[in-house]
Formats: sequence, C-alpha cells, structure tokens
Amino acid sequence: MSIYETLRSVIRFDPIETDPVERRLKRAASVADLRRVAKRRLPGGVFDYIDGAAEDERTLAANERAFADVTFRPRVLRGIEKIDVTSTILGQPLAYPLVLAPTGFSRIADPQGELAVARAAAHAGLPYTLSTLSTRSIEEVRGVSDGRLWFQVYAWRDRAMVKEMIDRAAAARFEALVLTVDTAVLGRRERDVRRGFSLPPSIGPQTLVDGALHPSWTWAFVRSEPIRFANVAGRDVGDGASPVKLSDYINTQFDPSLSWHDVEWLRSVWSGPIVIKGIQTVDDARLAADAGVEAIALSNHGGRQLDGAPAPFSLVAPVADAVGGRVEIICDGGVRRGSDIVKAVAAGANACMAGRAYLYGLGAAGERGVDRVLSWFLNDMERTMLLVGAADIAALNREFLDGS
Ligand SMILES: Cc1cc2nc3c(=O)[nH]c(=O)nc-3n(C[C@H](O)[C@H](O)[C@H](O)COP(=O)(O)O)c2cc1C
Repeated sequence: MSIYETLRSVIRFDPIETDPVERRLKRAASVADLRRVAKRRLPGGVFDYIDGAAEDERTLAANERAFADVTFRPRVLRGIEKIDVTSTILGQPLAYPLVLAPTGFSRIADPQGELAVARAAAHAGLPYTLSTLSTRSIEEVRGVSDGRLWFQVYAWRDRAMVKEMIDRAAAARFEALVLTVDTAVLGRRERDVRRGFSLPPSIGPQTLVDGALHPSWTWAFVRSEPIRFANVAGRDVGDGASPVKLSDYINTQFDPSLSWHDVEWLRSVWSGPIVIKGIQTVDDARLAADAGVEAIALSNHGGRQLDGAPAPFSLVAPVADAVGGRVEIICDGGVRRGSDIVKAVAAGANACMAGRAYLYGLGAAGERGVDRVLSWFLNDMERTMLLVGAADIAALNREFLDGS
C-alpha cells in the first residue's frame, strides 16, 4: 500500500461548522463543559451571579459531593432490553423525573431568558417553574409553551400583590405553586458583594471593561428591551427598572416572618397543588406533610442561602422513610448529570430539580444549550439504568446504592 493510500484511509475532514452556536455545542460533552463555555461568554459578574453561592460556598460544594460520595451497586445479567425512564409528579406525566427549578433574572444569561427555558422544557416533556423574580412575565411564558408550568412564589410583604400574581398564574393555566421558604433574608453571596453586583447589571468602569471583553453578550444585552422583574412591572414595590442590589431588594420587599399560617393562606387563594421548596430537616418535612401540601422540595437554594445547610441528596432517604407516601419528594441541588437523578430516585425521591445545569446551557448557547442539557440528562439516565440493571423508575430502590 502506498503512503498516499494509507493516508487516504485515515484522514477525515469534517465539514466546517458555520453555525457558531452549533460549533460551541459540538465541543461540549457535559454540563461542566457548558459551564466553562458560559464562563467564557458571560461577563464575570453575570457568571458569578449564576455560579456563586453563599459565604464559603461549602454547601454548594457539599450538594455536588453528596452525589459523588454515593456509588452504585450495579446488577448484571438481568436480561433488560429496554429502559423506561418516564414517571409522574403531581399526578401528571414526566419524560423523566426532573423539574426545571425557578431561577430569577434569566435574561441576564440570554436575551430570550425564561422564554427559551420554557420552550426547552416543553420540548423535553418536563415542567418548568417560573420564578416570581423572572424577567419574562407569567403571560409571556404561557404564550410560548403548551407544556407543564409551575409558578414559584416569594412572600412579598404586600400580600394583595402576591394574590394578584397567583390569580394571573391560575388564569394562565399554571399547574402548581411552589412556595420558597428559605429566603427570609438573602444569603451573603460574596462574589456579588465583592463586585457590587446589581440587577440588572449596572454600567460602571468595571462593567464597561467586562462588557468590552464579552462583546457578543454585551451586544445582545444592549439590543434587547430593558430587563425588568416582569411580574411586578410598574408596581410600587420596584420592578428592577433601575439597578438594585438583590440583597437590598429582598430584605425590604420580602416578609421574613413567613409561617405555616401562610401555607394555609396560600391554600385559601389557590385550588391547585402546592409544593414547599426549601425543606431542610425531617421535622419540617413532617410538618409539611401534616399541612397537606402535595410535594416538598428538599433544597438549600443551591447553597445560595445558609452556608452549612445539609445537602438535599443526603436528606432524601430519611425524609422518604418519614413521610414518603404522604407527600411527594423532590431533591433540589447539585444535579449535574442524569446519574445524579437516578441516585436521588433510588434513594426515595419522586423527582429532582435542577437550576444551574440549565443556566450554564442557556449562558453558553441559549435555548439550544438548554435543549442539549436536557437531552444529555435523558440519555445519561437511560444509559445509567441499563448499566445498573434497573428497567424502569419503579425498579429503582436503595439496593442499587452503596454508602447511602
Ligand atoms: C441564578 C439563580 C437564581 C435563582 N433564583 C431563584 C428564585 O428566583 N427562586 C427560587 O426559589 N430559587 C431560585 N434559585 C434556586 C434554584 O431554584 C435551585 O434551588 C438551585 O439552583 C438548585 O441548585 P443547583 O443550581 O445546584 O441545581 C436560583 C438559583 C440560581 C443558580
């Protein structure tokens, strides 16, 4: 064989990818890769707002480590041909056991913001939870999605306004309310403190340099309409039309004295299912079940509130033992791969929630980045379940986990 023939048999020239978004996505194989792409594309302050957490960020690290510290007990030779990862939450179908967590201010990652995430969730057959502090309104989000939508509620001091938002969510056929209970005061997110980060990002000497170094983000940001807290636009509670520090905003507008009476109040103004997000002990999981809510999300807000809070995954088994069957259990925090979802379900969760994973996709490549993350999770789950020998969601249990 001549050298020419040998070379011809091994040399391959892939067609040049002309679509820049596809080029970016092609080089990424995992959520960690998309995080790196997002870090490159977004101004430092924006990336840190998404990526960062409270104080020493120990809880953020612990959330991920809790998954890493548990290994599988894989079973082999089980004759499994087909994997079925479909499930249900709140009595409705899920393509796989994941709900997209509420994340405020998504338009700083991509101009489409919550619209992109809602569309991606609907393509994937998963519910999307819209944050109270979203930058696209309840009605705009329903306008682009026929999928399952949940609405996350913070307790503004102005309860009449909260009631109005809840009525709007009902009119827009949102299915469930998610009451976040871990934000009596904003956690001290020191990356934001150091940068003096505000929402929307303000233009000062430091941000000008940062913006110049990230021209595609800056160009998209200045071309799109101003970013607001879309659900309270024009209200006297402040709609984010001028830059505010999130800590100042939350600490003046939100009611720190939230109690179980407020859960009763919520029940009186909303006829659909209620999810309490931010449960961090078995005792409070019991109280939530006693209060008759349909689901709880074990969550420390992705480590953004109390540094030193327990990792949600480590709470799944004890909470499932205490209240499983009485209330559905969602494990929220640290999910970066479909195998994490498999572990959470095996430990006793009905589903997971994920925030940063899809935000990295959004920051790296807009809606297509979110699509990519959600399809990776699906493929990860199918592959992992085949490798551990569990044919479907009902087959998953603690026998498949070591060290839990
Ligand atoms: C940028 C960002 C904004 C968030 N905004 C909200 C919010 O408005 N309301 C809320 O209940 N939780 C919010 N969260 C918390 C998420 O809902 C979720 O609990 C957290 O992201 C889970 O951890 P993970 O990022 O490791 O998946 C936010 C999280 C991030 C990263």
